[in-house]
Amino acid sequence: MTLQNRKIIILGGTSGIGLAVAKAAAAEGARIVVASSNPARVADALATLGGSASGQSLDLTDEEAMKAFFEETGAFDHLVYTAGEALQLAPLDGTDLATARRFFELRYWGAFSAAKHAHRLIRPGGSIVFTSGVAGMRPGPGWSVAASICSAMEAMTRALALELAPLRVNIVSPGVVKSPLWRDMTTEARDALYEAEARRLPVGHVAEPQDIASAYVYLMNQTYATGQTLVVEGGGLLV
Ligand SMILES: NC(=O)c1ccc[n+]([C@@H]2O[C@H](COP(=O)([O-])OP(=O)(O)OC[C@H]3O[C@@H](n4cnc5c(N)ncnc54)[C@H](OP(=O)(O)O)[C@@H]3O)[C@@H](O)[C@H]2O)c1
Repeated sequence: MTLQNRKIIILGGTSGIGLAVAKAAAAEGARIVVASSNPARVADALATLGGSASGQSLDLTDEEAMKAFFEETGAFDHLVYTAGEALQLAPLDGTDLATARRFFELRYWGAFSAAKHAHRLIRPGGSIVFTSGVAGMRPGPGWSVAASICSAMEAMTRALALELAPLRVNIVSPGVVKSPLWRDMTTEARDALYEAEARRLPVGHVAEPQDIASAYVYLMNQTYATGQTLVVEGGGLLV
């Protein structure tokens, strides 16, 4: 299998991991469509991708907008969902429930709605690849909301692998990745996080987005894996 001439829609494909997936798939000859909420970010991503890539601004928490997007898109081969926002981590006692519920909107319900409105358009042999994170398996104190979203995404992946079969549905679970997701931290705090992770990880360094992108490309090219979580965390779960 190859991604040559395959049409791949990457929701959240304008930054970080999603943009790296777009670049890696384009390098295999895929036709890329990216979507995210900020028009300037979509334009920047398209300038980076060049070639035949196309894109659209789309708020993935808006189900009607999602439905309209896929009605316009027509048939395609693979759906990748990497959209996410920086989560504010808070201890249980300090968690406002309305805020906590809102965090599910993009990363969980956005992915759910994407699968709902896209799956009939995916051609035979295609797949869906979602995104979670190792916080679901190795949370720290204050990570209850983020960990819950990750594990809910992995459970949804297994359920949809059955419900949408023979369409394959898989998910990538990254550890810490050097991406714009961490932009709200101070430079000092971010550098300290990366340095501590690099010291802790068996691989000795923190992932760049392209280190994770290859896992998405693998799951798209694969023909037999479904319902699986591919953990790409530099060995962080072992230590
Ligand atoms: N980076 C890490 O360390 C890490 C670790 C584990 C898991 N993850 C997960 O991996 C996924 C990708 O993260 P990343 O590091 O690539 O983050 P990123 O660089 O911040 O990219 C996030 C993407 O989501 C889009 N997005 C945000 N809100 C949106 C909305 N309402 N509608 C449509 N698109 C929206 C952003 O574009 P716009 O701003 O244009 O909307 C951007 O393209 C996330 O789910 C994240 O939680 C990341």
